[in-house]
Formats: sequence, C-alpha cells, structure tokens
Amino acid sequence: MANQLFQTKSHEALLEELRGENRLHRVLGPVQLSSLGVGAIIGTGIFVLTGVAAHDLAGPALMLSFVASGLTCIFAALCYAEFASMVPVAGSAYTYAYATLGELFAWIIGWDLILEYAVASATVAHGWSHYFQDFLSFFHIGLPHVFTNAPFDWDPVAGRVILTGTWFDLPAIAIAAAVTVVLVKGIKESASLNAVIVMLKLAIVFFVIGVGAFYVHAENWHPFAPFGLSGLSFFGHTVLGQAGPGGKPQGMLAGAALVFFAYIGFDSISTHAEEAKNPSRDVPIGIMTSLVLCTILYIAVAGVLTGMVPYSQINIDAPVSDAFRQVGLPWAQLLIAVGAVAGITSVLLVMMLSQPRIFLAMARDGLLPPNFFAAVHERFRTPWKSTIMTGVFVATMGAFLPLRFLAELVNIGTLLAFLIVCAAVMIMRRTHPEVHRPFRAPLGPIVPVLGIASCLLLMFSLPVENWYRLVGWLAIGLVIYFTYGVRHSRLRIQAAEKNAATR
Ligand code: ALA
Repeated sequence: MANQLFQTKSHEALLEELRGENRLHRVLGPVQLSSLGVGAIIGTGIFVLTGVAAHDLAGPALMLSFVASGLTCIFAALCYAEFASMVPVAGSAYTYAYATLGELFAWIIGWDLILEYAVASATVAHGWSHYFQDFLSFFHIGLPHVFTNAPFDWDPVAGRVILTGTWFDLPAIAIAAAVTVVLVKGIKESASLNAVIVMLKLAIVFFVIGVGAFYVHAENWHPFAPFGLSGLSFFGHTVLGQAGPGGKPQGMLAGAALVFFAYIGFDSISTHAEEAKNPSRDVPIGIMTSLVLCTILYIAVAGVLTGMVPYSQINIDAPVSDAFRQVGLPWAQLLIAVGAVAGITSVLLVMMLSQPRIFLAMARDGLLPPNFFAAVHERFRTPWKSTIMTGVFVATMGAFLPLRFLAELVNIGTLLAFLIVCAAVMIMRRTHPEVHRPFRAPLGPIVPVLGIASCLLLMFSLPVENWYRLVGWLAIGLVIYFTYGVRHSRLRIQAAEKNAATR
C-alpha cells in the first residue's frame, strides 16, 4: 500500500497513453494556444478584483502587487513549460505530479486543481455578473435585487460577514449554463469563438491604457503605498506590515496575493497539450507568450487606474469602467462594460474547458469513475458528462458564495499547485536527467527555488482562514482517494496483474 501511494507513472507510460484510443482531436497551433492563454488570463482579476485590492489592500502600490504576483507566475510558468514540453499529455500539474512525486501527490494536486479551475470559474461567473449588471444599468435596467448577488458577503470596514439581503446571483447561473452548452459542442468551435473574444478584450485593455493615460493625475499616486509595501502573516500573527479589519493582512504583498487571481489561467494551456499539433514546442510558447503579455498590460492598467481616481474612491464592483465614469467619459464606461462582459466570458470558456480534461486524466488512471469522467461524446468528441457536472458546480458556487471568498480560496489552491510543480521540476531533473527536455527553465535550480519561495510568500499574504479552508478541502479529497481511488488505481491493478503473472 505505502509503495502504491508513492509509485510514479513512467514517462514511457505517459507517452504510450498518447497513442491509445479515445484521444481528443489535435487542432491547436501556437497562436491558438496563446490565444487560449490570454483568453483564460484577462478577466475578473483585472476588471473586478483590482478594485478591492487598490481600495482596501495596496493603494497605488497595486502596480508593484502586479509585478510581485507576475514574477511568481513567471517562475511557475517556466517550470510548467519545462514539464509541458517533456510530458505533452492532458492533465496539467496533475500528470506532472504523477510522473514525479507518486500517486498520492498526484491525487492531492488533481483535487487541488478543482479549486483552480472549477472554483475559479465560479469566481469568474460572479465577476461577469457585476459587469453585466453594470452594462444593464447604463440602460436603466435593473434585475430584482434578490437575484443580483450572493446571499452573504465580507464587510471590510466592520471586519465581519454580513447578509446582503439577496437570494442568489442569477446572471452567474445564466452564464455558467450558456458556456456549458458551448463546451459540450466541442473545442474547435470554442477555440474560434475564443479567438474573436480575445481580440475584443485586448482592444478594450489597450483602450483603457491608451485613453486612461490622458486622465492620469500624478498626485493620485501619493501616497504610493498607504498600507505599506508588505502584508504578511503567519497563521493569524502579523509578521510584516499591518493587519486590517478582522486581522487580515494589508499592504502591497497582500494586494499581490489577491490580484494573483488575475494571472491564473496561463497553465490551462498545458491541459490542452493533447489537442496541440506540436505540444512540446507550442505549449511552452503559448504559456510564456500569454503570461508575459498579460503581465505588461496589467502593470499598465494598475498604473492608469490608480492614477485616474484616488485609490480610496475606486469602485469595488466594476472599478475599470467606473473610473471612466468618474473622469466624465460615460460612453467609455459602456464600451468597457461590453468588453469586460465579453472578455470575462472567454475566461469562463477556457477554465470550464480545462476542468473536465483534468477529470479525464484522473479517470483514465482509475482515480475517478471512468464511466462518467472519461466518457467522450461519440459525435462531439468532448468529455461531455463531466463538462455538464462542472457547469452545475460553477453555477451553484457562483450563485451562492461571495466573490472575495471564492477568489482567495482559488488563489491559495493554485499557489499550492504551482509550488508543487516547481518542486516536481527539481525532483524530475534529479531522478530522470536523461529524459529529453525540448524546453528547460533557465539558471539551473534558481527558477524553481524562487518559484517555491514566492508561492509561499503569497500564500502567507492571504488571510489565515484560507489555510484552514485549503486543509479542509484537501482532507475531503483524501477521504475520496482512500475510499475509491486507492482501490481502482490502474497502476495498482497493473502491478497486481504483473505479480499474478510472475507467480
Ligand atoms: N485570470 C482569470 C481572471 O482574472 C481567472 O478572470
């Protein structure tokens, strides 16, 4: 049993699987992959969470928050790219962990990735709803109040949870349902639809930077870091910087830990490796291109936003479009709301596309029931059952849980996944130095070590409850693994068959 928990899947076995049946279509080139990356990255993080981060956590130092979280992602992305070039199969960090750290870690990371993809999708659906309502308000259309938000939220001034007087977020449910239908139909259609939306989204971001720059007043950047440049706590004890309401860390690093959400998604490209035409070359290109582009754009948007409006007046629900309203450009507000709605939709498309593919990889290994999670639709060739299940999960979480709660949970889970990938790269180099690596993270062990350190730094810059939620989530996962996965694991069954044959 102990052997099984740490048994790894061989590199040859992974490549062998690529030649098996039930494969997905290879239709994606480097441009489509980069576009999927940008499609997954620019969304609720930059259009919505920047508001809370600037207003409550970082002030104009939000620009540095984006630098800090961008660097963390770049270290992790280089490690992802090394793995993706080496093990070009679907499954992302889950597969990499299986090849290096063994089955138990693979399960933990696969389970953890549900936080990154499915819970992130719920967060994004929630952010979509904010901008959709902002868009409707332009035409003086308002939904009944009870359908506009999650029933409870965190009040940063009082430092406690409050009831919002609503029942659930109806637009979040509607968008999750619509995206599910598109995804069940197939990736090719989804990739072309995504490309159109990505162009629109980039145009809006360039517009925000280009036009907003004319409305920047440098005095809004003073004080530059009203909450300080740090914000680090160790299980509830502030280590660096100041503690805000409810003891939550405040400062530039605390802002970085929240806006980290804005970068999530670049790694989803690695879950499409199986659909890439030339995965060992195109996947690393897609990951790095989309991440570096978004980092530059985000720093610029943060500079413009905090320069246009004093940080204490930045709107929390729709900060980017509202900044243009505040400087007297209501038509720009409308344009941005439309772009944000379309742009956030594309994030949902990619995120909700990735989750079923991780389930698919886990089911092929026997860790989840294959009849359900590995079922590929005869005509559409998509993992349709788990796509629908993901849609139901996203709609439910997005409808009932508040945005900040969801975003912080996603961030801590994703940071853990990135940390494990960085560690796995170092382990793999030691245990399998001979494997061909078309792409290698530069500077020897420096990049993975910096990746691990920066992920830990951001994890400790999140409010402490997130650690408890993460542990609770992982504990549920372990119960499932030990009651189902451990007995149905393909590695275990193959090992048992081999033993029986040699007896
Ligand atoms: N990075 C994605 C977003 O900000 C998840 O919406």
